[in-house]
Amino acid sequence: MKFFVDTADVDAIRELNDLGLVDGVTTNPSLIAKSGRDILEVTKEICDMVDGPVSAEVVATEYEAMIEEGRKLAEIAPNIAIKVPLTLDGLRACKTFTSEGQMVNVTLCFSANQALLAAKAGATFISPFVGRLDDLNIDGLELIADIRQIYDNYGYETQILAASIRSANHMSDCAKIGADVATAPPAVIKGMANHVLTDKGLAAFLSDAEKAGIKIV
Ligand code: E4P
Repeated sequence: MKFFVDTADVDAIRELNDLGLVDGVTTNPSLIAKSGRDILEVTKEICDMVDGPVSAEVVATEYEAMIEEGRKLAEIAPNIAIKVPLTLDGLRACKTFTSEGQMVNVTLCFSANQALLAAKAGATFISPFVGRLDDLNIDGLELIADIRQIYDNYGYETQILAASIRSANHMSDCAKIGADVATAPPAVIKGMANHVLTDKGLAAFLSDAEKAGIKIV
């Protein structure tokens, strides 16, 4: 499973990139606003740092305006994936962009039917939001499993990009189901390294090493 980082914080992306944990980045208007930076400037900086796809989202809601914004975003770098919302205008824009060879991430997916439409529109990525469904007591992981089954039934090549990931358990659950990608905030990805027995075991090893005077260099 590929790891995308869900943030527009360049320092956080750099830290994870140095660990080899970044296969791509996703942003959205809320994350850009949180960064306090100009969308074109911060997105360019991210694209220069990361080899994989960097999703940048349009803010227009009508087809023509989405096309204009998407083309502007695509000029930033070759690794831009234009992010469009899962609306009829967004699906039409998806079809236009993909027919031009552009990567497209269709976002705000909350049902299997929406994911089916995105695949038929030729989306590169579909972004089902796990955490926001869980917030409503609807099983977000079940949606990932349903989309996996539907895409596999027909050989759709659209990649399932599990989004709105809130915990390390979400990451391993998405991997078990077979999501192609999961995008998560930096803290969730770093948190995957944590285990109380690792901390306890390391403390014991270090204590024994000190008592025995073990020195390596
Ligand atoms: C996906 O691309 C979105 O940017 C993101 O995963 C949404 O997550 P949230 O529901 O935690 O805001």
